[in-house]
Amino acid sequence: MNDNLPNHIGIIMDGNGRWAKMRGLSRSKGHEAGYKVIKEISRLVFERGVNILSIFAFSTDNFRRSDEEVNNLMNLFIKGFKNLQTHKKDNIKIVFSGRREPLRKDVLKAMDEITNSTKGNTGGILNICINYGGQAEIVDTTKKLISMVQNGDIYIDDINEEIIRRNLYQDLPSIDLLIRTSGEKRLSGFMLYNSAYAEYYFTDLYFPDFTMEELEKAIEVYKKRDRRFGDVKRFES
Ligand code: FPP
Repeated sequence: MNDNLPNHIGIIMDGNGRWAKMRGLSRSKGHEAGYKVIKEISRLVFERGVNILSIFAFSTDNFRRSDEEVNNLMNLFIKGFKNLQTHKKDNIKIVFSGRREPLRKDVLKAMDEITNSTKGNTGGILNICINYGGQAEIVDTTKKLISMVQNGDIYIDDINEEIIRRNLYQDLPSIDLLIRTSGEKRLSGFMLYNSAYAEYYFTDLYFPDFTMEELEKAIEVYKKRDRRFGDVKRFES
């Protein structure tokens, strides 16, 4: 790994609503500002040498928001995924994690298009969590593994940590650095299984103010962390 960089970064993009409110704008304007930030970060982070970026764009619980906010967000996703076609030439592969139901057909279509057009890319993976829940993911993976056992594809005793990880929504390695903006200090179910040994970084900045320079600061903090994975600290003699 390049200069102790995190291989896989996760970002919980929180605070768009508060950012907009402070400026007397609608919540949707906050999401649009957040989109501009993530579009830029999701290009620069791979140039920086990180291999995977996972972002929390919409949780299963976000459907509880007003119809107006949900619809505006879904429209932003469609527009945003089309715009992310620029990632195609940057060699970035885009994948999605989450349940397809009850996402709108036009949103699913936009997701499928960008997935297909970037599937051969090898310069980095952008994993967009949409209609995603961490507990729902474990439920869905459990069902998938049970049907694999029932079909005779695997034996119960084959099930281990690795097989579970490979059968999550996406087969991605563990998250190394997990960032949440807006001052909240919760995981909110974000990639529960992959985050088991993640280093957490919290910032009070609202997501639309979280620039690449701020991400650099998080990476610097991460590099100084002592990751032991349950082992003891080893002192140099
Ligand atoms: C949480 O802030 C943010 C969201 C629910 C939406 C995040 C979505 C984006 C940044 C757009 C991404 C778009 C693409 C195409 C990837 P909040 O609304 O909960 O903020 P608040 O806590 O201040 O109300």
